[in-house]
Amino acid sequence: MKRAAMLIASLLFLVVLGNAAFAQVKVGIVLPTKDEPRWIQDQTRFLDALKTAGISAEVLFSQGDSAKERANVESLVSKGIKVLIICPQDGTAAAAAADVANKAGVKVISYDRLIRGTASVDYYVTFDSVQVGMAWGDYLVSKASGKGNNLYLYAGAASDNNAFLFFEGAWKVLQPKIADGTFIVRNSDKAVALSKKATLTRDEMASIIGQVTTNWNFADAKAKAEANLTAAKKEMKGTVYIAAPNDGTARAIADAFAADKDVTKYYITGQDAEIASIQYIIDGKQSMTVLKDVRILVKDAIAAAVDFLNGKVPPKTTTYNNGKIDVPAKPTMITTVTKENVKAAIVDSGYWPASNFKGL
Ligand code: BGC
Repeated sequence: MKRAAMLIASLLFLVVLGNAAFAQVKVGIVLPTKDEPRWIQDQTRFLDALKTAGISAEVLFSQGDSAKERANVESLVSKGIKVLIICPQDGTAAAAAADVANKAGVKVISYDRLIRGTASVDYYVTFDSVQVGMAWGDYLVSKASGKGNNLYLYAGAASDNNAFLFFEGAWKVLQPKIADGTFIVRNSDKAVALSKKATLTRDEMASIIGQVTTNWNFADAKAKAEANLTAAKKEMKGTVYIAAPNDGTARAIADAFAADKDVTKYYITGQDAEIASIQYIIDGKQSMTVLKDVRILVKDAIAAAVDFLNGKVPPKTTTYNNGKIDVPAKPTMITTVTKENVKAAIVDSGYWPASNFKGL
C-alpha cells in the first residue's frame, strides 16, 4: 500500500516536472523601449507569431537602460532560455549582456540593431539598413532641381549601429549631389568639410552624426530643428530638403519646419511606416517613409530561433562586421512609401487597417 502511494506520488512528480519542462521559456526576447511605437509593434507581432508557432517565449523591455537590459537577459537566462533575441538599447554596452547569455550556452540573435564588440553574437536578423538611407537620398534627389538646394541632415542615436548604416546609405546617394552643388548642407559644418569624400570612415560619420543626432528622441529632434532654424539665415530656408532618420523624429522636425514662416516648402524623409506618419503622409505633412515590414523580421527571427533550437544554422546571405567578428545575416528588403503608393503598400497589403486613417 505504502509502495503504491509512493509510486503514485513519484508519477505525479514526474507529470509536474514534465509540465514544467513543457512550459519552460525557450526563447527570450529583449526590446529597447516601450516609449516608441516601433518596438510596441515588434512586441505585438512577436506575440502573434509565437502563438501561431506554438513557442513559449517571454518579451522584456529595457526602457532605454543598458543595466536593465542586462538584468533582463540574466533573468531570462536563469529561466533556462535556449535562444535570446535581443535588440540592444546601446549596441556596444549590450556586449556584456550577450556575453552573459553566451557563457550560459544560449544562442544570441541580434535583432534589428547589431551588438558590437563581442564574439557572443550568433546571428543578425535585420532589414537592409544601408538601403533605408539610400531610399532617403533617392527621394530627396528626385525632388531637387538646379543648384544650391537647402539640405538639412539629421541622424539617429550614435549608440545605435543602425544610425551609421542609415547615414552611410544616405551619404552614398547625397554626397555626389552635395559635391556637385545640387545641395548645400545647412546644419553641419562637418558634413560640408567632408563633402568631397565619397566614402566616410566610421569616425568621420561619427563626427557628423555628433552634430545632427536626434538620439532617436522626439524632443531632442524638435529642439535641434528649432536651433538649426534659428541659426539659419532666410536664404537658407525657402524650399528645404530634410533627411530625417525615422518617423517619430520626422514628425517632430516637420512640425518645427512647418512653423517657420521663412520655410515655404519642405520635403522630409522617415522610416517605420508608423500609423501617425502614414496619416502625416496622407495629409501632406511628411513626404515619405520607409516600410520595414516587421512581420517579416519577426518571422525571420523566429525561424532562426527554431533553427538554433533544432541544432541547425540559420540561412546567411551576407555578414556584418561588429568590430570583433563578421556576424552572419540575411537582410530583408525595404519599401519606399509616398502619397502615391501609400494605400497599396500600407492598407491593401494588410500592414495597417484602413480604419486607422482619415482621408485615404
Ligand atoms: C530602428 C528604427 C527605429 C530606431 C529608433 C533603429 O535602430 O531600425 O526602426 O526607428 O531605431 O528606435
